[in-house]
Parts: sequence; C-alpha cells; structure tokens
Amino acid sequence: MQINEKDWEYKVCASGRVNIIGEHVDYCGGKVLPAALSLKNTVYLRPNGTNEINIEWTTLPERVTLDINNLEAYKHLKFGNYQAGSAFVWQQAGYPLTGCDMLMDCKVPFGSGLSSSAAIEVSTLAALRTLTGEPVTDVEIALLAQRAEREYVGMNCGIMDQYASACGKANKAMLLDCKTIQCEYIPLELGDYSLVIIDCRKPHNLVDSKYNERRSETEQALQTLRKYDPAISCLADLTPEAFRRLEHALSGKVRDRAQHVVQECDRVRLAVECMKEGRIDILGMLLNESHESLSRLYEVTGRELDALASIAQSHPACIGSRMTGAGFGGCTISLVQRDAVTDFVSYTLAKYTEETGYQAKFYEAGISDGITSEKL
Ligand code: GLA
Repeated sequence: MQINEKDWEYKVCASGRVNIIGEHVDYCGGKVLPAALSLKNTVYLRPNGTNEINIEWTTLPERVTLDINNLEAYKHLKFGNYQAGSAFVWQQAGYPLTGCDMLMDCKVPFGSGLSSSAAIEVSTLAALRTLTGEPVTDVEIALLAQRAEREYVGMNCGIMDQYASACGKANKAMLLDCKTIQCEYIPLELGDYSLVIIDCRKPHNLVDSKYNERRSETEQALQTLRKYDPAISCLADLTPEAFRRLEHALSGKVRDRAQHVVQECDRVRLAVECMKEGRIDILGMLLNESHESLSRLYEVTGRELDALASIAQSHPACIGSRMTGAGFGGCTISLVQRDAVTDFVSYTLAKYTEETGYQAKFYEAGISDGITSEKL
C-alpha cells in the first residue's frame, strides 16, 4: 500500500539498533552499548471509531484486523503478531485502547539482527500512547515492548533492543545498565573511523529456541555459582578475577557461556573508557575479541558470520569487526577508516560471496533518536 500522508493523523517512529559491544549479557545483568539507527519502523495512524485495529503494510500485500476485545487470539499470525502482542500488553497494563488504522512502513530489514521486532513493538506501543494520550514514558514503553516479545511472541529476550529502540538519541551510544535500567549517553565520536554494518544474509531459523537455550545455560551457571557465593546476584557481578577463582565449580558449555558473559562485561567497561579517551584503535581490538568469544565460547556466530567478520578484519583499513545482536545470522559491525569505506565494502562483499556463496548486504545508516511522534 502507498503512503499518502494526508490520509493519516499521526506518524510515529521507533528505531532499529546496533549493539557496539556487550553481546548476550543484557539478560545476565550486564551493561551494553547499543545505539538507535536511522533505519526505523514508522506507524501511520488514525482513530477509526470501532473496536478493531486494522493493520496494513507498505511492503506486504496482507491486511490484518485485530479485535481489541480478543487480543490474545493472534499469537499464530505470521504478520501482525508483534502488533497484537504490543496491544495485548498495553491492555494488560490497564491502559485504555480504542480502534484505529495503522499503516506500517518498516525500513529495518527483517531477520538482520538489527531489531526490526523491537522497532515494530515500540512504535506500535508509542502509537497507542499517541492515540489515547496516556502519560506513559519511553522507558515504560520499552518495558512493555519487552513483555510483548517475551510473553506473546515467546522470545525470552533482555531489555537492550526495546530500550535502544525507544530511548536512543542521535549521535549517541547508550551505556545501559541492564540490572538497574539506568542509561548514560555517550557521544559516538569515532574520529577517523566509520561504523559499517553488513548483513551476512544467511537465512536463519530456530533463533528463538537457541537464544532461549543460551539463557538457560547462563541461569544454570548462576545457580551453581550462588551455591559457593550467595552474594552473586547475576553473572555480570563477577570480575574476570572473581570468575577465575570460582570457575572450577562449572564445566563444559555452561562454563564457557559464563566465561563469555564475564569477559564481555569487562570488555564493555574497557570499550567505554576507550571511547571517552578517543582510543578507537583499542575499541577495534575489543570488537575482535568479542567476536572470537561469541564464536568459540558462546557459539552464536556460525560459519557465515565468522567468515564475514574475518574477511572484514583482514582488510587493511578495518581495525575491528564483530557480529551484532543475537547472532545465528544477521549483521556484523566494523570500524573502518572513513576514506576507505567504499573499498572496504566492495572487498568484503566480493570475498564473502567467494567463500560462502551468499550475497552480503551493506546498510547505510546513521545514529538517530528512538521514538518520535508527529501530528500530520
Ligand atoms: C537479542 C535480544 C537482546 C540481547 C541480544 C544479544 O537481540 O533481544 O535482548 O540479548 O540478542 O546481545
């Protein structure tokens, strides 16, 4: 369906995100360092005076109608389930809901690991806020969106994606403490370097079940460690030194998963220091270490993401590259000398196809605000 702005009353947007570093630590109480992207989901909105939410898309032929008195009935939908889940948790939280028409214009590529799902949930909830005029904060919207993802969609995610999508700020990275949900905004100044996002485009499946499996492995590690030291409230409480003293209690994959979490939290701490001091070269090294750990200890990369990161790392203008997001497919981010980005991209895409047979894709995106709402 075409967008004709004069047919609509409001335009409400929420962002996709990249995570610079701090992967698979948000659900372990760690700090993460995401940023909101200029790739967004936009909801065009108008009240319709009925008890129905009608949804259409600019990119899909589907049209879905949700009965606002029966919102738990749409979990099985291929398209529209994120919107239904968002409206469902909105109602469950006690907020009023009225009928409306929504046109979705999603510029966050699906399955790219750039959180199209969070962008859809957050923008839908922000649209319901605009529709009803309820005094709900952006942080509350992020928390509701996370509930939709966990309780309705069934992915037991952390808070990083929805928080970044809702509360991002232009040209700022967000140091989000996932234990306290406190955020410090840090200027994203990369000196002579650009952050380059490339999608490995491997069709991925079973992400949710593998993701939930990793979560339970880290929970298992925590339970075991708490038998030795009940003061540990989450894996992110442990310094690498403290972990070394206790790791004998763990074994096999569970030990590896916990080691990744502890060391990744330490890398976030170092990365923030580097950014504040302009040591982008060291930030690059930390990205490489993070990828290595996600590949060997956390096992969420796979052949394609490993190939893409290592090809990127082999380019002379690249000082660091890693997967971003949940993994099992999706994107890498690379720090690349600004004047060599074009050469870097064509080199990486060509070599990647040679090695894997897949066509990777480069996304041009800036760092942008999270939720925006405009009366048309
Ligand atoms: C997904 C989840 C996030 C986070 C990342 C991994 O994007 O939604 O909560 O756990 O994976 O860092």
